[in-house]
Amino acid sequence: KEKKDLQGKNVLVTAGATHEMIDPVRFIGNYSSGKMGYSLAEELARRGANVTLVSGPTQLEVKHQNISRVDVRSAEEMYVASEACFAKMDAAIMCAAVADYTPVSKADEKLKRNNEAFSIELKATTDIAAALGKVKTNSQVLVGFALETQNENDNAKKKLVKKNLDFIVLNSLKDKGAGFNSDTNKITIIDKDNKTREFALKSKVHVAIDIIDELTRYLANR
Ligand code: PMT
Repeated sequence: KEKKDLQGKNVLVTAGATHEMIDPVRFIGNYSSGKMGYSLAEELARRGANVTLVSGPTQLEVKHQNISRVDVRSAEEMYVASEACFAKMDAAIMCAAVADYTPVSKADEKLKRNNEAFSIELKATTDIAAALGKVKTNSQVLVGFALETQNENDNAKKKLVKKNLDFIVLNSLKDKGAGFNSDTNKITIIDKDNKTREFALKSKVHVAIDIIDELTRYLANR
């Protein structure tokens, strides 16, 4: 029988990459496929939550009718869409791989090549998780991800504090089958009290169940 333990809860999920336009045909992006975020959205909806899925460009489709998807492209668009709905959310899971930098200006026409070196000036994007962490109320649960390649636990703990998260889901590119694009992931959940739980390599569908089980415990205590 289906568990409906999140009936009536409103949850925001960000998913996928962002594309930061350089000119009309080129962008700065990353390898996020959206699979992890979409698996979270499906699991939340299956358990009765109303899900707002703010999604960067992906090949994926939403299956459950309780998911309303908002398509965005850039980090700035993802920030605007997330910030606009956060006040009515019981929880938010920041799974998107958001660009940290974006071009200062976008060329109106396709840039022409010559044989000179060429550089693009970049500026920092808004940290969406940190912005929501600043306005979060005591009844809202904010979950972040950390994608690391070195000093994984220390870096994840710093992000947890800096962004005012309730817990953080660490995945490391050092683990085979974890992170971008694959159908599997290997995660460690770290909470504010430094309690750390390591999980086995699993399909993203099953990883999503572990994360939503944890989120459900937090929501039950609010
Ligand atoms: O989409 P898949 O192919 O399935 O891959 C899944 C994933 C690897 C993208 C996912 O599991 C993951 O790790 N997502 C977070 C990727 C990331 O950008 O991590 P980070 O350590 O750089 O960012 C830390 C946290 O801040 C994240 O919750 C991120 O969403 C958030 N952030 C970062 C920058 C920014 N400008 N705004 C943010 O909200």
